[in-house]
Amino acid sequence: MRVGVLTGGGDCPGLNAVIRAVVRKGEVEHGDTFVGFRDGWKGLIDDLTRPLDVEQCRGILPKGGTILGASRTNPSKIEGGIEAVKAMLKKHDVDVLIAIGGDDTLGVAHRLSQEGVRVVGVPKTIDNDLSATDVTFGFHTAVQIATDAIDRLHTTAESHDRVFVCEVMGRHAGWIAMYAGIAGGAAEILIPEKPFDIDEVAARIKQRHSKGRYASIVVVAEGAVATGGTLSVAGGKVDAFGHPQLGGIGQVVADALEERTGYDTRVTVLGHIQRGGTPTAYDRVLATRFGLRAIGAVHEKAFGTMVALKGDVIVLVPLGQAVTELKTVGPGFLDDAAVFFS
Ligand code: F6P
Repeated sequence: MRVGVLTGGGDCPGLNAVIRAVVRKGEVEHGDTFVGFRDGWKGLIDDLTRPLDVEQCRGILPKGGTILGASRTNPSKIEGGIEAVKAMLKKHDVDVLIAIGGDDTLGVAHRLSQEGVRVVGVPKTIDNDLSATDVTFGFHTAVQIATDAIDRLHTTAESHDRVFVCEVMGRHAGWIAMYAGIAGGAAEILIPEKPFDIDEVAARIKQRHSKGRYASIVVVAEGAVATGGTLSVAGGKVDAFGHPQLGGIGQVVADALEERTGYDTRVTVLGHIQRGGTPTAYDRVLATRFGLRAIGAVHEKAFGTMVALKGDVIVLVPLGQAVTELKTVGPGFLDDAAVFFS
């Protein structure tokens, strides 16, 4: 088979491990040949390709980012974009396309599949917000980076008796904040799933310090919102899939807490550091398993599907399922951990 591969959306630790696994198994076991499309869907519109074979994939396993490049290009928003993608697949004699991405990239893959293109999807995102899979690779790495940062903030916060607000990514899901906040022993975790009352947060921090505790870490997810719209963040740019650029709530929360508590309050925004660098061993293994299953699906002719982790098994689910529902943090998770937040 001739297989096209692309990585779309934001980059994510583990993408290279997927590419390596797909190519290794495809070439060695099936005699497949590959073409890499650069910069996500943009490569399929502007004819940006790179060769892809076992040699090209040597040494990429521990590397963050993606050797194929990524972009948030949305062919559905470009006039004639979908037709251009189809024509480009034909031009490069592609039998099947493996699209590696989040809900946006997979949404386009789903549309192409409905129009007869042979596609297999692989889910990725540090946000862990795809409902069709238990976990996405990249999440584990982002959580570890955020946890390491919180550990470091603890020692400086304790030295100065300060409050530190640490803003993490995750878009409209609080998974990174929850995991890193719990692992890092945060005093407060603010997530989009549970709007927070800033006066109550300030009161809890004051109470904590009145009991003799030094320093508090407040982890805030970039998509967290205050009740009743009491704290607002200036709106950012909107991408080609209609997502607003998030960020800034950390500073707003820090200012509000300093004003209400009188404690010296500083803010750290982790931003893209959470996506950069080498993937954890867990993410390398999950990404590798996804890649192996994806090329398997190509040869089973299971088109229009996406690989997913269910329990400890890699399964195939319809692509349509991947893009229907956002997986968010359930109320039980935060409530169960409530004993740490008072
Ligand atoms: O979806 C992954 C993610 O890192 C989100 O957590 C974040 O909101 C967004 O991408 C940032 O996107 P960009 O890299 O385009 O700024």
